[in-house]
Amino acid sequence: MNMVCIILLHLLCLSLCLQQGVSGPQCLENPPTRNSTYGAGSVTEIGGLKAYVTGPSHSKRALLLASDVYGFEAPNLRKIADKVARAAGFHVVVPDFFYGDPYNPNNTQRNMSVWLQAHGSDKGFKDAKHVIAALRNKGVSRIGAAGFCWGGKVVVELSKTDYIKAAVLLHPSRVTVDDIKEVKDPIAILSAEFDKALPPALLKQFKDILSTNHVSGYVKIFPGVSHGWTLRYQDNNVTAVKSANEAHQDMLHWFTRYVR
Ligand SMILES: *[C@@H]1O[C@H](CO)[C@@H](O)[C@H](O)[C@H]1NC(C)=O
Ligand SMILES: *[C@@H]1O[C@H](CO)[C@@H](O)[C@H](O)[C@H]1NC(C)=O
Ligand SMILES: *[C@@H]1O[C@H](CO)[C@@H](O)[C@H](O)[C@H]1NC(C)=O
Ligand SMILES: *[C@@H]1O[C@H](CO)[C@@H](O)[C@H](O)[C@H]1NC(C)=O
Repeated sequence: MNMVCIILLHLLCLSLCLQQGVSGPQCLENPPTRNSTYGAGSVTEIGGLKAYVTGPSHSKRALLLASDVYGFEAPNLRKIADKVARAAGFHVVVPDFFYGDPYNPNNTQRNMSVWLQAHGSDKGFKDAKHVIAALRNKGVSRIGAAGFCWGGKVVVELSKTDYIKAAVLLHPSRVTVDDIKEVKDPIAILSAEFDKALPPALLKQFKDILSTNHVSGYVKIFPGVSHGWTLRYQDNNVTAVKSANEAHQDMLHWFTRYVR
């Protein structure tokens, strides 16, 4: 790609993100190459949704991972699912909230605002509750949920309910002060130093609200990285991989502490 294209793409992304407030200017950077067969787990159906599942299926403890707009076939997301399943014996479920229709940045006919009309996070929240109910029917008793970008909004909604024991938000999109005021479950909020949608002043407000409301939780700002860094890092960038891994470890610690 020549420089002009790169600049044009960047401007397009910038305008889309800013208009939609999806998650700041970096929200579409480094899109993954979808791979439906990737990962140590398998794809099954649960609660009416297709889902990538990994880790012991008989486990009483499960985690739900809510993807970013690129969906459940992103290799890095499946890698994270495999990693937390292996490390702590969770049964991990990554639902296809987009019904086979993740955001495709190449489809210029269907921009982010059009795509979001079909795939609102309110629908994702409803679907997530069905998935959790199905897990409970299978004998799972303790569930945690982590949300990345788009999925962060789904998970902050879950964290206001008894559906889960603990939540982790990784560079969440469109999470508001009003959302945080209603959070009941232990919550970890992992954010990038460079994220236009989550400036330090807003994160400070989140932190203060959690503390005022006596909700177990913290806000951690990862230095030197941008929105999306826990998922859409370049594999050959040692610094980026290290920071992403640190976030994955923090997520794992939170769940081993509160989903037991
Ligand atoms: C998709 O993942 C499978 C399993 O890891 C791998 O064998 C295959 O090469 C991958 N396909 C692409 C296009 O990367
Ligand atoms: C978008 O186009 C690029 C460049 O042609 C290609 O590498 C990529 O796989 C495409 N992405 C999707 C989701 O189709
Ligand atoms: C997205 O596409 C719709 C319909 O084609 C159009 O009305 C709207 O202006 C576009 N929005 C952006 C941000 O490009
Ligand atoms: C590697 O990742 C870091 C953190 O995201 C970023 O600041 C840096 O520019 C990246 N390096 C390259 C060569 O892309």
